[in-house]
Amino acid sequence: MCGIVGYTGPKQAAPILLEGLSKLEYRGYDSAGIAVRDKDKEPVILKAKGRLKMLAEKTNNGEAVPGNCGIGHTRWATHGEPSELNAHPHKSDDLCVVGVHNGIIESYIEIKEKLIRKGYSFQTQTDTETLIKYVDYYYKKYKMGPIDAIAKTMVRIRGSYAVALMFKDYPGEIYVARKESPMIIGVGEDESYIASDVPAILNYTRQVYYIDNMEMARLSGGEVTFYNLNGDVVEKELKEITWDAEAAEKGGYEHFMIKEIHEQPRAIKDTIGSLVNTDTKRINLESIGITEDEVKNINRIHVVACGSAYHAGVVGQYVMEDFARIPVRVELASEFRYRKPILCKGDLVIVVSQSGETADTLAALREAKSQGIKTLAIVNVVGSSIAREADNVFYTLAGPEIAVATTKAYSTQIVAFYLLAAEFGRIRTEITELQYQAYVNEILTIPAKVESILDDKEQMQRLAAILSAQDDIFFLGRGIDYAVCLEGSLKLKEISYIHSEAYAAGELKHGTISLIDKGTPVIAVLTQNSLYEKSVSNIVEVKSRGAYVCGVTYYGSYSLEGTVDQMTYIPKIDDHFAASLSVIPLQLISYYVSLARGLDVDKPRNLAKSVTVE
Ligand code: G6P
Repeated sequence: MCGIVGYTGPKQAAPILLEGLSKLEYRGYDSAGIAVRDKDKEPVILKAKGRLKMLAEKTNNGEAVPGNCGIGHTRWATHGEPSELNAHPHKSDDLCVVGVHNGIIESYIEIKEKLIRKGYSFQTQTDTETLIKYVDYYYKKYKMGPIDAIAKTMVRIRGSYAVALMFKDYPGEIYVARKESPMIIGVGEDESYIASDVPAILNYTRQVYYIDNMEMARLSGGEVTFYNLNGDVVEKELKEITWDAEAAEKGGYEHFMIKEIHEQPRAIKDTIGSLVNTDTKRINLESIGITEDEVKNINRIHVVACGSAYHAGVVGQYVMEDFARIPVRVELASEFRYRKPILCKGDLVIVVSQSGETADTLAALREAKSQGIKTLAIVNVVGSSIAREADNVFYTLAGPEIAVATTKAYSTQIVAFYLLAAEFGRIRTEITELQYQAYVNEILTIPAKVESILDDKEQMQRLAAILSAQDDIFFLGRGIDYAVCLEGSLKLKEISYIHSEAYAAGELKHGTISLIDKGTPVIAVLTQNSLYEKSVSNIVEVKSRGAYVCGVTYYGSYSLEGTVDQMTYIPKIDDHFAASLSVIPLQLISYYVSLARGLDVDKPRNLAKSVTVE
């Protein structure tokens, strides 16, 4: 969480920092700050509590702050409440070292005690101030250069960080270091940039370096030098970002979330197109580097992820087990990493992540790798830590996703599972050639069907108006419908702050039905033909206890009219792929409920898009 930017070059730094931070606000938005140096003058530090616009107002969008070298930060508080004092940048008392940090310094209390014994005092509650003062301590005590002082600090602290520092004695220069938390370095003509994520610098450059774990870099104008912990220079290859800058803008939509909901047909189509030859209608796993022999030898699959990516895994589990008859276990990364998972030869661990930086998912990936297990990452952000560390990568082509509540990334993740499932099933001869062709053909229809649901979203607006006044909303479904309910419920609570639970409909009687009362809203998803009647029985049960039931099912399946209060229809598709369609009304409902409640759709309270701390 937290977003970092930096600039050094011929231009005025502050406006660039503020613009960059505005693209990173999804990472944290409780306070923000910048530190800018005008030639060899001392850095000026400006901070504001609240959204970035407070800082923008204070500095006239940065125009009022002279100087060509600076760093900036947008915060998601971990240590210390959101306040101007705790906002970054932090500094040593004489401004010798000024810095911003993303991540957590786990050993900060012991470092702080040590520094207090050495005569340092602390003004904030942050772990970051400790880090900055620790660098300052080594820098002064051993009279070493910035790189050596940072390296000495890095080997003595525990935690995760992406840090950017300016040293009073080195005007025009920025020093960075990275362990676990994301950071990229962009290069332009006589200028360089740092950022936690690509959108922050896309307007300025597409040429980037990826700094690795336990590496440092020195930026001075257009010159970037990388170092390892020994202080040796490390050579790096410049990479080109292919993302379109417009993709990271709202493009006429009121919010990123609704824009991203509408981008789903394109995102799904691109993701399918990356593996399916549309002429031959065959899936090719070559681009992700998995061979047929490897597929034949898989014994078990573990899908590990967090949040919506975990929910995508739950959908994937149903489809993969059905098509490929491989046992699949889906697990939350935060549980997997600490429960000493039993992994065996022949297991495949699939980690799923939009950002590719989620701390728990990355740790789970490393756990699997440390046991010598083959890993495949379904990931959206190119060059992210998870993408770089996994043995094989299946890139979802959702493009940049900015809204905290994911939509298009989730949709591309479930499509990725369909493709893997169908191809694994074919290779292992668990599905016939005819079934394979039928499945691929069905998958190819998803983008147009999603589009048609989006064309008809007024009904969701009306429903949202009713639901927005509620305190509790339940989601019910069986099988894949249950998997979708998990995602629908999470979406709703994330951005509407309405309490919500998703229940496997058959489980209702074991407790939750006691919560159903007159008028309690229940959203029921019914797309699985083999489970339809069972789900209908559960709907009747809640209805007879007074629930206000909204159903989501296929066009043509009208038997519930008259039983339930509201029906939403989606186009017919093979049941295995129904999640791609049924999730769309649920996303729209959440969006419109959040709007109706006057909330900040793209930046819900207490959340951040990229969870790079545990
Ligand atoms: C956060 C986001 C969720 C996301 C989850 C996992 O909680 O708000 O939308 O599903 O992290 O993130 P990842 O980047 O690993 O998919």
